[in-house]
Amino acid sequence: MFFIMHLSMNRIFHFLLALCLAVSVNAYDGSQLWLRYTPNATPSALVAGKKSQALHELRTYYHGTKPVRLVQKKSLPPEAYEIQVEPKRITVVGADVNGLLYGAFELLRMQQLGHIHSTRQQPVFSLRLLNHWDNLDGSIERGYAGKSIFWGEERGGEEIQDKRLEIKDKVTSGSKHNSYPLINLSKIDAYARANASIGINGIVLNNVNASPKMLTSEYLRQVSTISRRLQAYGIKTYLSVNFGSPKALGDLSTADPLDPQVRQWWRSKVDEIYRLMPHFGGFLVKANSEGQPGPADYQRTHADGANMLADALQPHGGIVMWRCFVYGANHKGVDRVKQAVLEFQPLDGQFRPNVILQTKNGPLDFQPREPYSPIFDQIRHTPNMVELQITQEYTGQSRHLVYLAPMWKEFFSFVQPSSLAGIAGVANVGDDANWCGHHFSQANWYAFGRLAWNPQLTSAEIAREWLQQTFTTDEAFVRPMTDVMLASREACVDYMMPLGLHHLFKFDHHYGPEPDGFKADYPLEWCPVYYHQADSAGIGFDRSHTGTDATAQYREPYRSLYDHVETCPEQFLLWFHHVPWNHRMQSGRTLWQELNAHYDRGVAEAERFCTVWQQMRPFVLKADQGDPRRWQEVDERLRHQEENAREWRDTCLRYFGSFAEPK
Ligand code: GCU
Repeated sequence: MFFIMHLSMNRIFHFLLALCLAVSVNAYDGSQLWLRYTPNATPSALVAGKKSQALHELRTYYHGTKPVRLVQKKSLPPEAYEIQVEPKRITVVGADVNGLLYGAFELLRMQQLGHIHSTRQQPVFSLRLLNHWDNLDGSIERGYAGKSIFWGEERGGEEIQDKRLEIKDKVTSGSKHNSYPLINLSKIDAYARANASIGINGIVLNNVNASPKMLTSEYLRQVSTISRRLQAYGIKTYLSVNFGSPKALGDLSTADPLDPQVRQWWRSKVDEIYRLMPHFGGFLVKANSEGQPGPADYQRTHADGANMLADALQPHGGIVMWRCFVYGANHKGVDRVKQAVLEFQPLDGQFRPNVILQTKNGPLDFQPREPYSPIFDQIRHTPNMVELQITQEYTGQSRHLVYLAPMWKEFFSFVQPSSLAGIAGVANVGDDANWCGHHFSQANWYAFGRLAWNPQLTSAEIAREWLQQTFTTDEAFVRPMTDVMLASREACVDYMMPLGLHHLFKFDHHYGPEPDGFKADYPLEWCPVYYHQADSAGIGFDRSHTGTDATAQYREPYRSLYDHVETCPEQFLLWFHHVPWNHRMQSGRTLWQELNAHYDRGVAEAERFCTVWQQMRPFVLKADQGDPRRWQEVDERLRHQEENAREWRDTCLRYFGSFAEPK
């Protein structure tokens, strides 16, 4: 009896297992991103060229009937490519290996979109970087899609037994006892490939709040393993470094950038890095900001600090990306949005040629809408790079559908791409099956890469091609969803903080609303009440000449436009002015009524996104062979977004109404 029962239990178990496997084979989890190419059964014999990653991609995924040749032509600008479509053949011409690879991916993109044509492309920015805010313990600062794909738990020399970290790298992990974790290299290959497909050519592997341990020899060996995998896809490796490393690691008693021993320490460290990785790109540094060490600890300037690192990197061709996100250190009590210019403008001209200043798009901190950062007007003798945030720290994280291309395009309407040396995006990638948490957050990663290649592309073009490759080319899906994506950023601004309001977020986690947020023990710069300044007279932060005079940091015509209530664009009104509740807006409504209208519109948009998605169900199910997983995951998030939008509106209007209602 027991035997029979055991047997049938066994059968049931196997049946269930088979069922699970069948389901999981069909279930599409989003892991292929926009690269949903069907591989050929055998490599296509129609593709010819020298052995390269580009050749491999095309042999595996090109389905056309015309032969394709891959040719390298050094006279093209770096990383550029041409696709020449002739009646009997296609030629992909690349300036170098990167150009060939980008050309190959362009051809595959055209194949997916159903229209192969001749084109000639070269990147607008030569530095197109992702910044990972990944910590060595595997957590990710402002990450909403699981754990780091680069780093794991520290295991202090024990043998590694984590199944997740199954693949060993022969060169660096020969020994049985590693004091650093092994990593899933196939995941890193897939990651590198996805980045190459959108033209990313550099990756910073760790958090700007950098652990000094990053520079220990053990970790550097792991960096070198990763860097070789990235290099195969034309991607350079960079590291964030902790300025205090020589001291923090116990090697020296100081990290003073003018101390000869400190300078020597960095030179030797950099030499060690380049011995391991001849293609290493350089350092990203957050110094004297939010508690990080920096040259000011030794009464030295940012230029002293950056130049010391630049001197160590220069012989190897490396660069320093020095962040301008500083506040609260040397200009305590001054309007936070003014501090970066005050700090860096006097140093302009003092930096070595291989230093680039890296600044966030807005002067505060990745808010749903900010005016551009005036540092781009004030720094004229040092190369600038813009830092955009792909991970949605302040735009609903991985719970809200907010397509960020329109925000980045807005920035480029104020700051000429040609004036910038490069572009960096804070990555939104973790070890979640779909990489980004929200299926639609993949679009932000994609859009960042496409804009880094060509900032002239429109938000709509990028949304369309992403939707077509990621879901389906059916216009009945692509059209309404392009519309949803394009409307989503403005909706987010409307339901969170319209008309120039900013930083109304709950303390620290930056997700929900807390307009009454004030705790005496916070630095003032983290309190919503400091930013909106609502009182019975009105609302908004006076940054005009009658207030903190932040408007004076802008070039004309913006300086004058922003300085006066009458000419300030309404989308920035409360950023620059404290405005009476009964102020007449362009619509004829009072400010209070207008605020209500914006919040209502934001909520109505979030509701509309849900409705449209309901109608999209058949298309997504068809694209996913009947599997509802992806559709459901998005649906669940859209409902959550709608709920959150209401919460934002109700909380903010209730609070502001306590000042405004009587007017
Ligand atoms: C924001 C963010 C921090 C981050 C910082 C930075 O303040 O909340 O987590 O470290 O930006 O960009 O350095």
